[in-house]
Order: sequence, then C-alpha cells, then structure tokens
Amino acid sequence: MARAIAGLDAALAARLSPLSAARPVAAGRATEALFEEMSRLNNELSTAQRALAKANAELAASNEQKNRLMGMLAHDLRSPLQVIAGFAELLEDRVAGRLDATERSCLERIRESSLFMRHLVEDALSLASLEAGRLRLTRQPVDLALLARRNVAMNAVLAEGKGVAIALEAEEGLPQAMLDSGKTEQVMNNLLSNAIKFSHRGGRVRVGVAAGAEGWQRLSVADEGRGMSEAERARLFQPFTRSGTLGTAGEGTVGLGLYICRTIVEGHGGRIQVDSAPGAGATFTVELPVRGPAEA
Ligand SMILES: Nc1ncnc2c1ncn2[C@@H]1O[C@H](COP(=O)(O)OP(=O)(O)OP(=O)(O)O)[C@@H](O)[C@H]1O
Ligand SMILES: [Mg+2]
Repeated sequence: MARAIAGLDAALAARLSPLSAARPVAAGRATEALFEEMSRLNNELSTAQRALAKANAELAASNEQKNRLMGMLAHDLRSPLQVIAGFAELLEDRVAGRLDATERSCLERIRESSLFMRHLVEDALSLASLEAGRLRLTRQPVDLALLARRNVAMNAVLAEGKGVAIALEAEEGLPQAMLDSGKTEQVMNNLLSNAIKFSHRGGRVRVGVAAGAEGWQRLSVADEGRGMSEAERARLFQPFTRSGTLGTAGEGTVGLGLYICRTIVEGHGGRIQVDSAPGAGATFTVELPVRGPAEA
C-alpha cells in the first residue's frame, strides 16, 4: 500500500515537474500584465473621479445660481402682487355696491388669482432659501391656538367659495410655545389650503390645537375630501410631488407646500404625518416641542 502511494507520488511529480519549472516565468508575466492592467484601470478611475468631481462642482454652482435667480424673481414679484391684491380688495370694499355682478366677479377673480400667485411666490422663495440650506428660525413665544384662529379666518373666504365648512377646536389654556411664528403660520396655511383644495362641496374641515405628549403641542387638519393612496402618501413630503390631478374646483397643484411644511416642522425639532385613504379624506398631524431645542 505504502509502495503504491510512493509510486503514485513519483508519477504525479513527474507529470507536474515541467509545469512547475515553467510556472514562475509564466506566472511572473501574468502578474506583470495584471499589474499593468490594474494600474491602467486605476488611472482611468482617477480621471473619471476628477471629471465627476468637476461635473459635481459645476452642478452645485448652477444649482446655486438657479436658487439665487429663483429667489430674486420671487422676491421681486412679491411686492407688485401685494399691490394688485391690495387694490383689488380696496376696490371691492369701496365700489362693490356700484358694480354689476359681472364686474364684481371680475374683481373677485383678480384678487383671488393675485393671492394664489402670492402663495406660489412665497413657496418659491421658501424653496430657494431651503435649498440654499438657509432655514432660519426666529423663535418667540407663540400662542398656537391664536395662530390657528387667525389662519382659519384668513381661509374663510376661500372655504366659503367652495362650500366647505371649517371648524376650529382649540384646547383652552395651552402654554405659549417657542416657535417661529411666521413659519408656523406658513405650515398651517399650507395644510388648511390643501384641505380646502381637495375637499368636495359640502365637506367639512376640522382644525385642532391640543396638548400632545409632555412638552409637546399638536396641530391637526382633517378633511373629508378625496384622500390619497398609500403610494401617494409615501412620496407626499418630497418636493414637486403631486398626484397629477387638480384640486376639486380645478385649483392648481405645484407640489411644494408639504415639502416646505416638513422642512419647517423638522427644523423646529417636530414631526409631521398623514393618515388617509382614497375617498376617505386626510388628516395631517404636526407635533411641535413647546420649548426650543436648547431648553428641551
Ligand atoms: N388634504 C389632501 N387631500 C388629498 N390630497 C392631498 C392633500 N394634501 C395634499 N395632497 C396631495 O399631495 C400633493 C402635494 O401637496 P402640496 O401641498 O405639497 O402641493 P400642492 O398643494 O399640489 O401645491 P402647492 O405647492 O401650491 O402647495 C397634492 O398635489 C395632492 O396630490
Ligand atoms: Mg399645497
């Protein structure tokens, strides 16, 4: 048995010997070729990385320029729009009694459209500053219920025009919260105008302000409108997301409002979420910390 194995070993050694003699040379060349190929690929990779870094820098620069231009344009549009809306309102107040129905409706449409454009301009301005990473919050003690009441009053005409009723339920005696008042109002306005926009005639919108968990306050906006699917919900807070359909009265959709809401709410250290199903309305809930982040 042992002899047989030794014989096998010898036979194997004899068969391998030419190979093992040739191997170092062949292996050496192969390794060299491999190294050359690797170094060529490495060079190509470095060149591609440099090109990518350059393209990225150019993209960032043009994005920055786009934001600046958008910001400037939105800023410049804001004042004349305010003037148009203001004068339309003044005319409605002063001469409405002397106008016939067609003239009154024209005036109303001028005012509504200029308000809608102002809303778009505000969104564009917010987006430009958010993209430039400049969400600056100026916190001050804010009465969330008071803010909600003001916002509901502001949207009353819009809701009436669509035959939608708004009900406000605000908890009494809530402490003031350290929030950016203007930006929190922007969040409310986006949620409330969405609720009206996607409600059917005869629908009801409920705005709620209440205490949340210890140290938190909760704002909710619930409607009985068309609601949304799970797929829609999943991408709701991304910029320029919209389901493709208009509001229930043909209102425009841009898809920026909720992205802006999310950025502002998260900037405050809060959370925003939605509960909805197709045809079953939508409830948006915003939770905000009562104290600023340093004191929280
Ligand atoms: N209450 C709601 N009911 C049903 N769908 C809604 C509701 N709120 C938002 N959506 C859906 O989410 C999309 C995004 O909303 P978002 O507020 O971001 O943009 P928008 O209302 O289309 O435009 P804008 O930038 O003027 O606010 C809407 O286009 C709509 O499809
Ligand atoms: Mg909106």
